[in-house]
Amino acid sequence: MKDTQIKKLINAEKKRQKSVINLIASENFVSRDVLEALGSELTNKYAEGYPGKRYYGGNAIIDEVESLCQNRALKLFKLKPVEWAVNVQALSGSPANVAVYLALVPIGGKIMGMSLDQGGHLTHGHKVSISGKMWQQIPYGVDAKTEVLNYDDIKAKAMAEKPAIIVAGFTAYPRQIDWKKFREIADTCGALLMVDMSHIAGLVAGGVYPTPFEYADIVTTTTHKTLRGPRSALIFSRKDRKSKTGELLDLDKKIDRAVFPGMQGGPHENAIAAVAVALGEAAGPTFKKYARQVVANAKILADELSRLGWKIISGGTDSHLILVDTWMNGTGISGKEASDRLERAGIIANKNAIPFDSRPPTDPSGIRLGTAAETTRGKKEKYFQKIAQKIDMVLRK
Ligand SMILES: Cc1ncc(COP(=O)(O)O)c(C=O)c1O
Repeated sequence: MKDTQIKKLINAEKKRQKSVINLIASENFVSRDVLEALGSELTNKYAEGYPGKRYYGGNAIIDEVESLCQNRALKLFKLKPVEWAVNVQALSGSPANVAVYLALVPIGGKIMGMSLDQGGHLTHGHKVSISGKMWQQIPYGVDAKTEVLNYDDIKAKAMAEKPAIIVAGFTAYPRQIDWKKFREIADTCGALLMVDMSHIAGLVAGGVYPTPFEYADIVTTTTHKTLRGPRSALIFSRKDRKSKTGELLDLDKKIDRAVFPGMQGGPHENAIAAVAVALGEAAGPTFKKYARQVVANAKILADELSRLGWKIISGGTDSHLILVDTWMNGTGISGKEASDRLERAGIIANKNAIPFDSRPPTDPSGIRLGTAAETTRGKKEKYFQKIAQKIDMVLRK
C-alpha cells in the first residue's frame, strides 16, 4: 500500500487485535478469504437494482455473485427457495431492520420490541433510533425475578397494544428464545413476527441454537457476529405468508423495494461476495464444531465467574454471550470501571446495562462478554476458565 499513513494505522490495529483477548460479544475474526473478497475489484461496480434487473450495464458477473450469495444463505439455513426469499443488499444490521419496518409497518405504527436497557437493540424501536422516531415502540423486557423472558407478560401486552410487528432476538440476552411461543403471541394479536438473529446466526447455522425459521415471517441478521463474515446483513422473508383474509402479503417484494430504492442506492457487491464466502465457510464441516465450542466456552466462562462469586444475569447462558452484574448492589464496581480495568489488563469487553439497572447507560451495572472471537482463535474450555480467573482478579475491589 502506498498510503503510508493508513498502512501504519492498519498495521497498528492488526497488532492491537493480536495483542488482546477479545471478549466483545458482537465481534469475530474473519478469514483471509473474506478479507480478499472485501478488498476486491467488486467494489468498483455500481449495481442498483437486483439480479437480472439492474439500472446499469456490465452487471452479468455481479448478478452471479449476488445470486450465489442468496443461494448460499437459503441453503445454510435449510430454506426452500419456493418458500423463502433473501435480500442480501442491506448495508448492515440497522438499515436491514429499518427496511423491514419501512416495508411492512405504516409510519407511526407499533413495533413491539425489547427495550434497550433490557437487552434489545436500538433498532427495535428505541426513541433515539429512526425506528423509534418514525414508529412507536411497544417495549417489553424480562422478568424481574428470573431475568428471562416471561411469555405470558409479553402476550398480555401484545393483546392490549396490537402491534403491527413483534421483534424477537436481542443484543444482550444470553438464553434460548422460545420462537414457537413468539409465533403464538403474534398469531393471537394479529402481528407479523420478525426475528433479529444477528447475535446468534452462527449458532443457528451450526445447529447449536434453535432455528427461528419454522416460526418467523421475517428473519434479519448481521453477518459479522457469530456468523463470522464481513459487516453486512441479510433479510429473509416468507414468500407464502398470507393475510387473515387470504391475500398474499408479498413480504419479499415489499422488503426488496424498501431496501432499494427505499433506503439505499447501489449495493456493496464486494461485501456481498464476502458474505457469500462466509456463508460457504459456515456450511463447511468445521463450522458446527466451532459453534459447539463457542457455546461450551461461554458456559464454562459463566460457571467459573459464578463460582468465583460474580452474579451472572439469568444464572448462565445458552449462547455465546453472558451478562455479568459487576456492581452487585454497590458491593462491586461499575460496568465502566470494570471494562476500563479489563482493557488495562488486555481483555476487551463492553460495559452493559443489566435488566432493571439502577445506574445510567453511560456507566451501567454490568459487562457483556462473548466467546465467538476467541473461539475462532482455537481457544477451548480450559483457556476460558483461566480467563474467568483473570477477570475475577482484575475486577476484585
Ligand atoms: C440484535 C442486533 N440487531 C441489529 C444490530 C445492528 O447491526 P449494525 O451494527 O450492523 O447496524 C445489532 C448490533 O449490534 C444487534 O445486536
